[in-house]
Amino acid sequence: MARLVKRTAHDPAAVMIDGKEQWLCRCGLSQNQPFCDGSHKLTLDEEPGRLYWYDEDGERHEASSGFADIRTY
Ligand code: FES
Repeated sequence: MARLVKRTAHDPAAVMIDGKEQWLCRCGLSQNQPFCDGSHKLTLDEEPGRLYWYDEDGERHEASSGFADIRTY
């Protein structure tokens, strides 16, 4: 089973865990979920209004047809 979830964040969220600052992934691309691994840098030059997906090698692809109803975080 697979699902598509639309994410628009390009950066992590800082949280304090046990008195230590941690960075949580908000882009969905980290291989170390829920923590940021820097993969969000792949999204920094995404163009507004376009829909992309990333394969397991971190390569970006553009969806040819929109999925306008995908839930956004
Ligand atoms: S926010 Fe997802 S990898 Fe950094």
